[in-house]
Amino acid sequence: VSLKPYNTFGIDVSARYWVEITKEEDLQTLLQLGDHVSTPKLILGGGSNVLLCHDFDGLVVKMNIQGIEVVREDADHIYLKAGAGVNWHELVLFCVQQGYAGMENLSLIPGTVGAAPMQNIGAYGVELEQVFESLSAVHIQTGEQRTFSHADCEFGYRESVFKRELRGQYIITSVTFQLDKRPTFHTRYGAIQETLEAMGITEETLSIQAISDAVINIRRSKLPDPAEIGNAGSFFKNPEISKNQFEALRVQYLSLPGYPVGDDMVKVPAGWLIEQAGWKGYRSGDVGVHARQALVLVNYGNATGAQILALARQIQESVLAKYGITITPEVNVV
Ligand code: EPU
Repeated sequence: VSLKPYNTFGIDVSARYWVEITKEEDLQTLLQLGDHVSTPKLILGGGSNVLLCHDFDGLVVKMNIQGIEVVREDADHIYLKAGAGVNWHELVLFCVQQGYAGMENLSLIPGTVGAAPMQNIGAYGVELEQVFESLSAVHIQTGEQRTFSHADCEFGYRESVFKRELRGQYIITSVTFQLDKRPTFHTRYGAIQETLEAMGITEETLSIQAISDAVINIRRSKLPDPAEIGNAGSFFKNPEISKNQFEALRVQYLSLPGYPVGDDMVKVPAGWLIEQAGWKGYRSGDVGVHARQALVLVNYGNATGAQILALARQIQESVLAKYGITITPEVNVV
C-alpha cells in the first residue's frame, strides 16, 4: 500500500499491511487476535505530523473513528466527546457554530482529534490541554482500554506522555473536551488583534466566530496548504534557552525575539533563527523552506523523507553554528 495519500508531506513510501479502524471494538479485536502481536505498527490519523523516511514493514493502522456527542454539561461547561478520526478543524467549526468556546484559536490545524493530544497541539496563545478533559486509549499489546485524565497525559509544550514514556504503547480512540458556555477571548497573540481590526470587528462584535475567522485568515496567508504543497506544519519546536544565553545573544542580534518561560528561560522563535540564517525560501530540487514561514519545510513534488531529513539536519547545524542553539524536530520522524 502506498502511504502517499495518507501523509501531508506527500512522501511516497509503502506499508506491508494496512487496516482502517472505524470502531473502538474493532481495534480491540484486531489487537487481541494474536496474529499481529509482534508486527510493528504505525498509527496514522491525518498524517500531518509525520515524516516517513522508509518503507514500513509492518501494519499501518489508519484511525477513522467518527462521531461527536455532548456527554454532559454543568452550569459553565459542555463536555463533548469526539472520535479519534474526526477531522480537527471540523470539530472546531462544530464548536464555533454551537457556541461552545475554547477551541476557536485552534482553527484550521491539520490532523485528527486522536493525534491532537499526542503533541498537545497549540496555536495563537491556546493549547489543546486548556480544553482537554480526558481520553480513551487502547493498549497496543493487550487491546485493553484505559481512560487518561488530564494529569495522566503530562502535557507540555508540543509534548505529552504519549511522545515520551508511553511512546508507541497506546492508541487514542476518543477524546473528551471541556468547553465553556461563556467565552474568554484570547486575542493577544501575534497578528490576531490587527486581523480582527482589519475585518472590522470591534470589542462589541467580538465573538468566537470572529476569532476563528481571523485565525483562518492568518493561517491561510502564512502556511502552505498541504493539498497544494506537501508539508507538516512547523518542522521544529521553538527552542527554550537560558535567560543568560538570550541576553548574551541580544547583544549581537538586537532584534532577536523572545518570550519568557518561567523566571530563567526564554522561548525563541525557531522561524526567526532559520530565516536569519538565510534559509527562508531556500529550495534544492523538490525540498525547500517555505517562503512565508521559515519553520515549515516543504515537498514540492517527489521529495523523499531522507531528502527532507537531510535538509533539516543542514538547518539544525547552521542554526547551531550561528547561535549556539540546538533546534529539535516537532514532527515525528519514522
Ligand atoms: N518568525 C520569523 N520568520 C519566520 C517565521 C517566524 O522571523 O519565517 C518569527 C517572528 O518574529 C514571529 C515569530 O517568529 O513573530 C513567531 O512566528 P509565528 O507566530 O508564525 O509562530 P511560530 O512560533 O513560528 C508557532 C507554532 C505554530 C503555530 C504558531 C501560531 C511551534 C513549533 N509552532 O509557530 O504551530 O501555528 O506558533 O501560534 O510552536 C505547528 O505546530 O505545526 C504549528 C504550525
